[in-house]
Amino acid sequence: MQTAKFRKRPARALIGITMHNANSNITVVGPGAVGGTLAAFLSQDSRFQVSIGARTAFERLVIETADGMIEAKPILFTDPAQAHVADWVLVATKAYDVVATRRWLANLVGPATMVAVLQNGVEHLARFADALPTERIVPVVVDVSAERLAPGHIRQRRSGTMVVPAGSAGEQFVALFARSPIHVFATDDFATVAWTKLASNCTGVVNALVRKPAGIAAGDDIADLIRMLVRECVLVGRAEGATLDDGLPDRVVENYRRGPPDTVNSLYADFAAGRPMELDARNGVIVRLGARHNIPTPINALMVTLLEAASSIAFPLSA
Ligand SMILES: NC(=O)c1ccc[n+]([C@@H]2O[C@H](COP(=O)([O-])OP(=O)(O)OC[C@H]3O[C@@H](n4cnc5c(N)ncnc54)[C@H](OP(=O)(O)O)[C@@H]3O)[C@@H](O)[C@H]2O)c1
Repeated sequence: MQTAKFRKRPARALIGITMHNANSNITVVGPGAVGGTLAAFLSQDSRFQVSIGARTAFERLVIETADGMIEAKPILFTDPAQAHVADWVLVATKAYDVVATRRWLANLVGPATMVAVLQNGVEHLARFADALPTERIVPVVVDVSAERLAPGHIRQRRSGTMVVPAGSAGEQFVALFARSPIHVFATDDFATVAWTKLASNCTGVVNALVRKPAGIAAGDDIADLIRMLVRECVLVGRAEGATLDDGLPDRVVENYRRGPPDTVNSLYADFAAGRPMELDARNGVIVRLGARHNIPTPINALMVTLLEAASSIAFPLSA
């Protein structure tokens, strides 16, 4: 994969942003697989008071990790009106829940609040730019491999990593996790990291459409289709400032083929379960930004059209 420069280093004060490292109030909005895991780890750290903005209430957080069980009982709110200004807000709802998430930010964001956006895609800042200045928004590329078994009950398969942009805000985010087993890195080239992940994520639509897990990439025709999707992503990503080389489509296919053939990506899982999907954040964005740069993206556009049609109302077959 593309190599961007990572650094894990202590936070330092920079002009214009208040430093919140000790005794911070942290509110996690969206206590699902990602948010619940992070809230539980942060709750173990005596520097923080952790609260949760949830849609569905639960008694306590229980996280099954590879190293054992973690339990936490953060303060839980289910109504945005109950929330009050936090030092840090960690947004971990799905990308399609942005409108409802913004309602939490109205009460949670004060003049010095920092907001980390832990969502898929490349539009972290744009989604919340109307809620606070972008200097106080930290986009995060997440790789924690977790799944929600029930509200408040999460299984984390392996210790995760998160990547944020270098700079004052990113470094403060890195410092939040200094005492947790999750590795957080700052990079000088966040665009490349985010677009490299999107290059992989944009292919999940193929699995959803054919309703088959990763093993389908063993076939040459499907592998070619995956390469075509990624090639479009590479061209748009480059126009957006990412450094993506011509070998990326082949590497995405290799990753598919190297991994377990029964792997199910979250788009496919959501589609199969009849849940909303992050289709716009994973493929629609390539089409939208491609249009902005006059870059044709017919394969991504076709996939979006087909999956949207497949997930809409089913019509009975007439005799
Ligand atoms: N899971 C992973 O391993 C993983 C890895 C990399 C990236 N990501 C990305 O991380 C983001 C979060 O994914 P996830 O897997 O953690 O999703 P998830 O398990 O579905 O969790 C989303 C959570 O947001 C809550 N929510 C929805 N609307 C809300 C609202 N208005 N107010 C408060 N909470 C609300 C949901 O509540 P309910 O309980 O009511 O549904 C749920 O608890 C996504 O963009 C995903 O693509 C996930």
